[in-house]
Amino acid sequence: MQKLIVGNLKMNLLTIAERDRYLESFKKELQGKNVSDCEIVLCPPAIHLESFAGKIEKNDFSVGAQNIFWEDRGSFTGEISAPMVKNIGAEYLIVGHSERRKNFNETNEVVKAKINSALNAGLFPICCVGETLQDRQAGKTTDVIISQIHEGLADVPVSRITSVVIAYEPVWAVGSDSVPTSDEIMEVRILIKKIFADTFGQAVAEKMKILYGGSVKATTAKQLCIDPGMDGALVGRESLIPMELIKIAEIINNSK
Ligand code: PGA
Repeated sequence: MQKLIVGNLKMNLLTIAERDRYLESFKKELQGKNVSDCEIVLCPPAIHLESFAGKIEKNDFSVGAQNIFWEDRGSFTGEISAPMVKNIGAEYLIVGHSERRKNFNETNEVVKAKINSALNAGLFPICCVGETLQDRQAGKTTDVIISQIHEGLADVPVSRITSVVIAYEPVWAVGSDSVPTSDEIMEVRILIKKIFADTFGQAVAEKMKILYGGSVKATTAKQLCIDPGMDGALVGRESLIPMELIKIAEIINNSK
């Protein structure tokens, strides 16, 4: 299965000059690197989606959005929709990121609406799931993951399910220096596969891509992504440095 390396650039790249420097540096760093078994997806702020998509050449990278509203059009001041994102050249959409769940009240119900809208527009949703530290300490990790997947993906028909990518991001590891062990990540990967096997059958479960996200760096990519058998990474801070994101892609690409 092709690996997926997603760079979540969050609310950064404040000027046109900064954006252009990022894209130039990304393309320069990519030259001559062996990442042919990976798809790299850059998710810039919405305002830069068009310029990022306009710079795609030779399948160097794909583009994803960080958020949408679930309606396609209408009186929703300030929002952007899945067809808009798709028509500008994006292919992926991050949904249910812990920062959106926490700061913008993105519930599983909201995640469900956004996933359906994304699939209808032909986007691949990257659905983030993960427990908080309190959940983990209270022994609720399994329950949280099960309900995030069951409720968030409740309306996805079996024919579309493999278009959804799952990113396991323990909330306490996102933007912090704490990371789970390989075994802890592997346990959740096995749980996610089981949820899909029980709901959609074994063949579907085998095809589902499961990424790890939360403090992934070149130095931790082996422990966090390769050893637990993940299908790639969702990278926050390190994706702001093109060289580091590409290093992570190389490590994961060459792990076989
Ligand atoms: P981080 O962020 O790599 O900075 O921990 C991950 C994410 O927010 O997806």
